[in-house]
Amino acid sequence: MVALALDGIGAAYGRHIVLADVGIDVLKAGSLTAVIGPNAAGKSTLFKRIAGLIKGPGLVELSDSARGERAICYMPQDTGANAVLTVYESVLLAAKQGSSWKVHDGELVEIDETLKALRIEDLAFRGLGELSGGQRQLVSLAQALVRRPEVLLMDEPTSALDLHRQIEVLGFVASLAERTGMIVLIALHDLNHALRYCANAIVIANGQMAVSGASAEVINEAMLRDIYKVNARIERCSKGRPLVIVDSPCLEAPAAQPAQPAQKVPAPV
Ligand SMILES: Nc1ncnc2c1ncn2[C@@H]1O[C@H](COP(=O)(O)OP(=O)(O)OP(=O)(O)O)[C@@H](O)[C@H]1O
Ligand SMILES: [Mg+2]
Repeated sequence: MVALALDGIGAAYGRHIVLADVGIDVLKAGSLTAVIGPNAAGKSTLFKRIAGLIKGPGLVELSDSARGERAICYMPQDTGANAVLTVYESVLLAAKQGSSWKVHDGELVEIDETLKALRIEDLAFRGLGELSGGQRQLVSLAQALVRRPEVLLMDEPTSALDLHRQIEVLGFVASLAERTGMIVLIALHDLNHALRYCANAIVIANGQMAVSGASAEVINEAMLRDIYKVNARIERCSKGRPLVIVDSPCLEAPAAQPAQPAQKVPAPV
């Protein structure tokens, strides 16, 4: 089964360093890890660096995968619409990325199944340019899944989805990961989703990994105050699940502190 480790990962845009020294001991097959942190912290940059879309210091170590970098798939935060293509064509194009252009029957079946699994088969022959924001986000997920990634980097995959679709998509990805051993990293602003679906969480702040570990330990009131600058409570709902309740922004946000030395992610339970 595939495993992913990061060592001293950094990135810069021109001379502006936006990510430094991110390290993760090991992310195991089938695990879901939330990547959380404020706007502009460096989450998307981390994903692009792991996917090899930008260069920088450090090592992305992928063990037990025959596909190398092709095993890693990045689902971007912005789902740009190429108005010329239909949904089906765009998903087919994603499936063929990096391989020969000859299309096999099995690939067409796989595309049909992926569209059905995400309940967007009705959109297959609609133009991308005429979709709603949420529909476009689901197509973007289909484009990622049809490539059968061993590591899936999902950048705010539910930001445009309604409540039903949010839990449907996250539940679907969680069960797919469990079934296939796919490693999933998900950048999320909804910390209740992180608590519910991701065993582990990594907090990125000011371009560094501030803390990492079990989501239920990492997402606590002190972290919410220090990193997100909000007064918040973690309370148990009637089903016993932890919930983040945000009361107010911190009135005097303390000046940005250098991130604490990174702690290592324990193996997922
Ligand atoms: N293409 C780019 N060129 C120059 N600077 C960039 C580029 N992309 C991102 N940045 C800068 O890098 C920093 C990190 O951006 P990044 O997109 O990784 O943040 P993020 O944590 O994903 O934020 P958000 O939650 O808003 O999506 C920001 O200061 C941003 O302005
Ligand atoms: Mg981002």
